[in-house]
Amino acid sequence: MLDLTGKNALVTGIANNRSIAWGIAQQLHKAGANLGVTFLPDDKGRFEKKVQEVVEPLKPSIFVPCDVQNEAQVEATFQAVADSWGKLDILIHCLAFADKSGLTGDFSAVSREAFTQSLEISTFSLANMAKYAKPLMTDGGSIVTLTYLGGVKVIPNYNLMGVAKAGLEMSVRYLASELGPNNIRVNAISAGPIRTLASSAVGGILDMIHHVEEIAPLRRTVTQLEVGNAAAFLCSDLASGITGQILYVDAGYEVMGM
Ligand SMILES: NC(=O)c1ccc[n+]([C@@H]2O[C@H](COP(=O)([O-])OP(=O)(O)OC[C@H]3O[C@@H](n4cnc5c(N)ncnc54)[C@H](O)[C@@H]3O)[C@@H](O)[C@H]2O)c1
Repeated sequence: MLDLTGKNALVTGIANNRSIAWGIAQQLHKAGANLGVTFLPDDKGRFEKKVQEVVEPLKPSIFVPCDVQNEAQVEATFQAVADSWGKLDILIHCLAFADKSGLTGDFSAVSREAFTQSLEISTFSLANMAKYAKPLMTDGGSIVTLTYLGGVKVIPNYNLMGVAKAGLEMSVRYLASELGPNNIRVNAISAGPIRTLASSAVGGILDMIHHVEEIAPLRRTVTQLEVGNAAAFLCSDLASGITGQILYVDAGYEVMGM
């Protein structure tokens, strides 16, 4: 029943084969979607090469640079979608950034620069991409972003990223309300801790994972592919009645009080 055949899916946020976005891309592909992939460009082209190697087996029909702080690149990304596909069905927003200084020490010491940069990349980018996706989602669509419990409760070392995720989760609700009349659904997956490039910047990620393995109802954390399965579900007609939601894919950790 989970069939994404003929659906055009743009996936952001693949950095390497540990990325959650890579787990999502694989499961969307498995369900039949056509893939477009963006990468974060850097001066030496290392990210481009790495991401190209990783995604090669899925043969994405679009492969473009997209630094979400660069408006021209964001615009060009959606222009590439318009040129190649004409319409977009699925947008996966799977990216975030916070300077290390925003992830340690006193929250009140976070600098204006670190705060603004993190919220621009991690939070504003969702609404900004939705702006470009909206006119391309002519048959309706599904937008999925990634969040974490640290946007709802205080988690040690998550600090600034927690504020960014709180804003992201509220953005999901406002976007769901705006885009619902166009049959565009907007949801977030709140994933349990997974070892990735981004999470290794969060101090004590291994301790967090061990804690979840002891406490979570399923006595383990989750994998990138499990998050990918939930994303494929949210992007499919099976989830046609679901929008504005935060779906916890965290082995049940969120329900525990102690
Ligand atoms: N790993 C976890 O434990 C976990 C848990 C819950 C939620 N998440 C969220 O999942 C998402 C993906 O993170 P991940 O853990 O897979 O790590 P990752 O490092 O693999 O992915 C983060 C991505 O963000 C991209 N990025 C950073 N700055 C960017 C910019 N300016 N423009 C465009 N892209 C930019 C990076 O290139 C990278 O691909 C993030 O939103 C993260 O907060 C992660």
